[in-house]
Order: sequence, then structure tokens, then C-alpha cells
Amino acid sequence: MRITTQSFDTLKDLDIYTIGLFEGEDLSEKHQLVDAACNGQLSYALKEDSFKAKLNKKMLLYTSGSTVFKRLLVIGLGKRDEYTTDKCRQVAATAVKELISLKKENVASEYLGGPALGKDFVNVLVEGFGMGAYTFNHYKSKDEENPEFVLEHIILSCKHDIQSSIKKGLTTAKAVNTARDLGNHPGNVATPTYLANAASEIAKAPNFKLTIFNREDFEKMGFGGIKGVSDGSDEPPKFIIMHYTGDEKDGKTLGLVGKGLTFDSGGISIKPPASMDEMKFDMLGGAAVLGIMQAVATMQPKLNIVAIVPSTENLLGAKAYKPGDILKAYNGKTIEVLNTDAEGRLILADALSYLTENFKVDGLVDFATLTGAVVVGLGHRYSAVISNNQDFADEIKSVSDFTHDKVWQLPLDEDFTEDIKSKIADVKNTGNGRAAGAITAGAFLQEFVKKGTPWCHIDIAGSGWNKSGKSYNPDGPTGVGVRLILELIDRWKKE
Ligand code: BES
Ligand code: ZN
Ligand code: ZN
Repeated sequence: MRITTQSFDTLKDLDIYTIGLFEGEDLSEKHQLVDAACNGQLSYALKEDSFKAKLNKKMLLYTSGSTVFKRLLVIGLGKRDEYTTDKCRQVAATAVKELISLKKENVASEYLGGPALGKDFVNVLVEGFGMGAYTFNHYKSKDEENPEFVLEHIILSCKHDIQSSIKKGLTTAKAVNTARDLGNHPGNVATPTYLANAASEIAKAPNFKLTIFNREDFEKMGFGGIKGVSDGSDEPPKFIIMHYTGDEKDGKTLGLVGKGLTFDSGGISIKPPASMDEMKFDMLGGAAVLGIMQAVATMQPKLNIVAIVPSTENLLGAKAYKPGDILKAYNGKTIEVLNTDAEGRLILADALSYLTENFKVDGLVDFATLTGAVVVGLGHRYSAVISNNQDFADEIKSVSDFTHDKVWQLPLDEDFTEDIKSKIADVKNTGNGRAAGAITAGAFLQEFVKKGTPWCHIDIAGSGWNKSGKSYNPDGPTGVGVRLILELIDRWKKE
């Protein structure tokens, strides 16, 4: 999608012009001009229609050729004093969905209430357009009579130079949509090799170095976690490392890890069949990391990033690892496997220890669809944060408040570490029965983060995909985590 700008008085030959109205307000001077251009249709409809400018409501008017646009699309913004950046993102998504369903090429929009926010809203508005336009029809046969309409271009009516905010918003939306695409492709397509290929495409950009470890390397590298989990699958596993150096000399370095489990059957501790198909989404942590790195490749921010996506399937078969097995992770700690379905923490153990033993990072964030417990605790709107460093957790929370990529912190202290101690190995891969399952998973991961590294684990098992979400989140993968980290990068990078 392209977004260009043009001032209102130079617009011409438009199929649709889009405006946003606040609930319970008289028409502004600018909207009075719009009303006059379409012979009072707008003020008439506002009186007669039930629209009332409620949030995310819409109304379509025809102008009978009285002006430079054939149709006027009116979007409700709700009450002015309740308007937020997230609502701006929502109404932009509502608008773009309507524009797409109308299948018209020449469309323009005004700011949809953005200026009422009193801060930089352009990238939020553009994010809403880009995220709201997302669809995934890759596996549907083409309907020749009714081809899918792709909206290529939106004109923003505006006098100012806002190109850099537009670029930022579009890059963010594209990264979110990349993460969604990776998630939507099923397990027989989005294999570990597919993720590795996606990483190598991204790593063609300047300042990237890509390293991939394969099954043959695991033993000599000491990656006992991913080796154990991948033993039951014929599909080649990949341990993907992307190293971006945007500021080699003295810039900050961010560590990222994403669980890339391309299908989780549970292994020998097999899952029940209902909803097992959804375990194709068990790589959404890895998808978020790849989406983030794609945006980094475009924006080339001045900081450094080490990103690791350990990727494999978790299946059952003659070579599969078994309950009772003991594995040794990269940092030498031994793990008693009590449930082969708690596999995510095993592959993350190698990734977190490899990253923190070999690179000095100022902060490390991992994303993982790690526990069913987090879905029970927080539902689908919040990701859980579990951290060893309160300042870093506070920073993530503040970025989350800003981006509306919502997180909520759960506690972590040494009492939880007791819950993951094993009688015969250093740790076990389950906690204390069902109690605090999301936290004991975090306590397990902490054992593999080198002491002194500020770290946040983000459990996205609930927030990773949706059945019905906000207008900018389609059914299926949400792309959670991408906006959060791109904003963190913005705050960490040098200008
Ligand atoms: N991938 C699952 C977690 C999951 C469950 C994600 C539901 C999304 C929705 C993970 O590998 C898993 O199975 N975790 C187990 C751990 C338990 C055996 C300690 C769980 O949460 O039940
Ligand atoms: Zn599992
Ligand atoms: Zn899993």
C-alpha cells in the first residue's frame, strides 16, 4: 500500500473521500465545506440517520456529482474526550476495510480525528490503515468473477510534510502483517526451513549476519534442548541467529528470542485432538521476531540486535524424546523432562543461554506461545511479562501503554524457583501441578539467562491469535509483539 499526501483544495476525480466525526458535535468549519460541496447531504443524513458518530460506526453518502468526490464515507470517532491513539488505529482500520469492500481505486481520507490527540498521530493512523487492510486468502481458489480487490493507494488530505511518519507507520504495519502471514501458513508449509528462508531474505539487507545451526550441529554445540525436542521429527530443525549491527562502536544492544515451534502435537505426552490444529500457531514468537527484523532491515536504526529463533516440530515417533529423559542445555544445566508437551521452554533454554553467554546485551526479550495457563489468567488481550529486572519490566510496560500492544506483569521470585527443582537433575520442565503454570515456565527460563542480563519473557499464548478482535486485528494471528519492540527500538536507537 502507498500513502501520499495532497492538500484538500487540490483533490480531484475521487471515487471516495473519507472523514471522521466526533459524537455529539456540530460540524467543524472544514466539514461545513464538505457538507456544502455535497449540497447539504452530510448535515441532512446526520439529522436523519441513526449513525450519531459512535465509535467505529460508518455511513456512506452519494454526492450526485456535485463535487470532486462521488461518495463520502463518514466514520464515527466516538466522544472527543475519550479518543485515544488506539481508537485512531481502530477507526483507520474500520475505514480501510470499508474502502476495500467498495472496491474503488481513487480514494482519499482526512486525519480521522488525529489532531485531537495533540501528538504525533500520523504513524498510528497509517498503522491502522495497513493493519486493517490485512487479509489472508492464500489457500482459496481464485474467484474469476469476483477477484480480490487490493487497495494500492490512499491519499491523505494534508498540507504538511509527513513522509517520515508515513514510512514508519507503513513499515510497522508491514512487519505486523509479515508476522501474521508466517503464522497463517500451516505447519506443512511454514516449516523450520521456511522460517530460515524468511530470515535469509531479511538478512540480505545491509548490516546483517545470518548463522543457522542444523540438526548435525546440535550435539557438538551442546544444544541438548532443541536436540531432544526435534528428535521425533523428520522435518529439519533450524537454530536461526540474526545479528544486526547498526551501531557497532558504542550503541546499545538488544537481544530477541522467539519460540519457533512450527507444530506442537505435545509429543509422547500427546495433546487432546480438539483445537490441536491451532498448534500451527506455536511459532508466533518466532514470527514476531522475524517481523521485527524485517522492519529493522528497512529502517536501519542505530543500535545492535541479536535475534534467535529456535525452530522445530514437536512430534511423536520411534526417535522422539520421552518423559523421564534428561537433557543438557547449552549452559550445562540438566533438565528432567516430565512432560514432552512443555517443549517450548526446552528449545528456548538453548536459545537464551547461547545468546547471553556469547553476546553482551543491554536487555533481552523473548516471545513464546508458552503456556495454556496464561490464557486462563489473562485471556486474549494481554501478553504476560515475567522478568528478572524491574526497571526493564517497567520500561516494557511503558512502551506497551504507548503502543497498546498490551502486557501485564506476573511475579517472579525464588519461591517459584523451588517449584522447578528436580530430584535427579538440576531442573524439571514442569512446575507445581497446575499452579501458576505461566510463572513456573518463566522461572524455568530464568535458569538459562546469564546472571546480570536484564530479561523479560513475554508469554503470547493468549494474545498471539484471536477469534474476534479489534478492527485492526483480523481473526487468526494478531502480530502481537511487533509494535511493542519496534517502539522499544525507537527509544533505544541513536538519532
Ligand atoms: N504450545 C503450548 C502452549 C499453548 C497452549 C499455547 C494453548 C497456546 C494455546 C505449550 O507447548 C504447552 O503445551 N504447554 C503446556 C505446559 C505444561 C505441560 C507444563 C501447557 O501449557 O499445558
Ligand atoms: Zn507443548
Ligand atoms: Zn508449544
